[in-house]
Amino acid sequence: MNKKIILITDGGGRGAVLVDKYGQSKHVGRILVVPGNDLMQINTDKKVITYPNLKTTSIKEILEIIKKEKVDLVDVSQDNAVEAGVVDEVLKLGINVVGPTKQAGQIEWDKVYSREFMVKNKIATPKFYSFNSEKKAIDFVKKNKNSKWFVKASGLAEGKGAIPAANLDEAIYAIGEMKKFGLSGETFLLEEWLIGEEFSVFAFSDGKDFIYVGSAQDHKRVNNGDIGANTGGMGCVSNPLIFDENIKKQSIEIFHKVINGLKDKGIFYKGVIYLGGMVVGKKLFVIEFNARWGDPEAEAILPSIENDYYEIGMAISRGTLKKIKIKTDKKIRMVVSLCSKGYPINYSKVKGKKITGIKRALKFVKIYGAGIKKSGKDFVVNGGRVLFVVAEGEDVLEAREKAYNAIKLINIEGDNLHFRSDIGWRDIKRLKK
Ligand code: AMP
Ligand code: GLY
Repeated sequence: MNKKIILITDGGGRGAVLVDKYGQSKHVGRILVVPGNDLMQINTDKKVITYPNLKTTSIKEILEIIKKEKVDLVDVSQDNAVEAGVVDEVLKLGINVVGPTKQAGQIEWDKVYSREFMVKNKIATPKFYSFNSEKKAIDFVKKNKNSKWFVKASGLAEGKGAIPAANLDEAIYAIGEMKKFGLSGETFLLEEWLIGEEFSVFAFSDGKDFIYVGSAQDHKRVNNGDIGANTGGMGCVSNPLIFDENIKKQSIEIFHKVINGLKDKGIFYKGVIYLGGMVVGKKLFVIEFNARWGDPEAEAILPSIENDYYEIGMAISRGTLKKIKIKTDKKIRMVVSLCSKGYPINYSKVKGKKITGIKRALKFVKIYGAGIKKSGKDFVVNGGRVLFVVAEGEDVLEAREKAYNAIKLINIEGDNLHFRSDIGWRDIKRLKK
């Protein structure tokens, strides 16, 4: 049998876990990753080829690679790549793709469109108001002095486009910040600030049918106790207790509404749908939809899938998901992001510092690289989130013990390692009650 060649667009931990999953497939021969990173080869026995000089949006070069290497399946798993229309261009070559077209992915890259879509399809969402004039927005908040807002750029902003505003002064400041996001912030939203518990849930969709895959609870703030700057994600746990039967039922109803709402517009969504939810009382509100796996949520959920991932990818692409039954183990996984000290604000001094202990830690946990590269014989820092440690257990306490014991073995030269030591605190507290 001719072994299949996969191309993944991602450079971080999410790309690394996809390498792991596709690498486990009996069908797969080689895996190409744009841009990828130097640690990915540890995640599979299959050959991994990376393209460090390209971006996930380097469409021309990606298409050339696909043709030259005779790629069989492309997995577009990164938000900028979806927005840039990588999927659309790959489809023109007649190649199978996991990932939504630019139009289908608009539910992530255009927040005003996304909120309006939710209202039209009766999906519970925070109240919102959209603006493209700073003055009109300021007049509006002045009239609503006692409200608390989330002020958000409508476009993609590397996860930095949502600013909380607890009073009038903060709202005026946040509105002023929107221009820093360039085109992404030309249109912006004022959203009602909901108070509740956040989690995320993921489904595969082939445009006609969808399958629920798993849930996770991420910690976005940089420091223990959920304080400090917002980040891409400092760690998460899978199957969080907040995701009970009631919330699962509501999530599935929402996925139905999304797939059908898009289908009604003639849009067939093929790929992973990420629902970022907030539970207020017993009701699920949608904070956002993303058109891809979350990072680090992917690192917690993908390892639980027992199916051949290439077969899932092909079913998504070909519209035959109905024939697949997804099998997942029931383990709890904890992911801890190991970061450069100073992340996400300023960590330029940590770049190039040596990382030690990966090999020893690998005996106990999985490790997925992100901001990391090889320098001679060593691995060195090449970004803010450097690597992700993933541990599994029967419950969150077991997963936690394994994760943090392994982390004790890892360091960044000059005491430059930063991580949170309270990942999973909500479920740990619930279990200990
Ligand atoms: P976003 O950039 O839309 O992913 O938002 C980043 C984070 O801000 C979310 O994960 C939430 O923690 C928070 N957030 C965004 N919108 C709201 C909202 N309307 N109410 C409360 N929290 C929000
Ligand atoms: N961890 C959040 C995200 O991937 O958007």
